Amino acid sequence: MSNALPRIIFVLWSAIFTTTFANYCPNGAFDYGGLGECVLAVDAPTSFDMAQATCKALGGQLIQINSETENFMAVVAAVKTLSGTQTTALIGVVNKNNQSRINADGTVLNYWRFASADEYSKPDGCTVLNFTDFNWYSASCATSNPFICAFSDQGGAQCSSGWTFNELTGKCYYLQNVLQNDSIPMYTRSTAETMCQSMGAHLASIHSDAEDIFIRNLAATSRKDEMCVDWGVVIGATCSETEGKTWTDGSPFNYDLTDGECAESYTIVNDEHCRGSLQNIWDSHDNFKYARFVCKKDPQ
Ligand SMILES: *[C@@H]1O[C@H](CO)[C@@H](O)[C@H](O)[C@H]1NC(C)=O
Ligand SMILES: *[C@@H]1O[C@H](CO)[C@@H](O)[C@H](O)[C@H]1NC(C)=O
Ligand SMILES: *[C@@H]1O[C@H](CO)[C@@H](O)[C@H](O)[C@H]1NC(C)=O
Repeated sequence: MSNALPRIIFVLWSAIFTTTFANYCPNGAFDYGGLGECVLAVDAPTSFDMAQATCKALGGQLIQINSETENFMAVVAAVKTLSGTQTTALIGVVNKNNQSRINADGTVLNYWRFASADEYSKPDGCTVLNFTDFNWYSASCATSNPFICAFSDQGGAQCSSGWTFNELTGKCYYLQNVLQNDSIPMYTRSTAETMCQSMGAHLASIHSDAEDIFIRNLAATSRKDEMCVDWGVVIGATCSETEGKTWTDGSPFNYDLTDGECAESYTIVNDEHCRGSLQNIWDSHDNFKYARFVCKKDPQ
């Protein structure tokens, strides 16, 4: 800890110097254009609080991993940057009141890779990524560890971590996903819209084939239980006899993949076990609850 500080200051100084001029990835970060993200592993072992403060000072945050690809990228950045003796690094996943693990910014995990259920439920407050097996392990927040920061590389188009930028629409999208099969919260269209609004967004409206396909890919599942309807992703379309079809974000209803039904909620289902009739339409239901939804907002 005592000799970690000068290194942090050096990293801060060199990275701030770079970002002042380049306005995106800090020096030494790996730019993964496909995800619109750069990843920086910092070889200055420190506590969680100091690690998060350092990532924030650099314009990012401790990496909040949302996919297998991103987990892999984090390992690659760590292996290339950290000294050979390091085997784990802090990521932005914390233990919430010994109940569950969440992203450090308070959002739910879209993806996880805990080595075991035991690692998930240990009382330690923080989480490290192990470069040998790519798995996540529980760790004390006070223990010194190297850490991995993530930054948006989108220049002006900044999506928060956990949101995905789409270049065609210029918007940020968030998929509320599910990982546990016990006590899964189920949302009506209206409660899902409230959740999106609490994140400064609305349920996603869709205005083109490209946007529909983008969200369909984001929503893809591979479940063997064929719970197609429940696992559909709620979008912002709704319909009433008086108003007709509308989007909850107020944008024009100029693209329509409904089957003609006027329903209270519409979802996208994209699961290899649920294809057939649902492949190219929005599934519709009245007064139904779903496990997942997708929000959309302007970049910050
Ligand atoms: C979590 O559990 C541990 C041991 O079971 C306990 O010491 C700790 O105080 C708990 N933390 C919280 C926030 O409840
Ligand atoms: C990392 O993973 C390897 C392989 O599973 C394991 O032997 C090692 O103990 C792990 N390290 C930590 C710090 O958990
Ligand atoms: C729920 O999780 C348990 C334990 O992980 C597993 O055995 C079971 O098959 C799962 N059920 C469903 C419906 O996925």
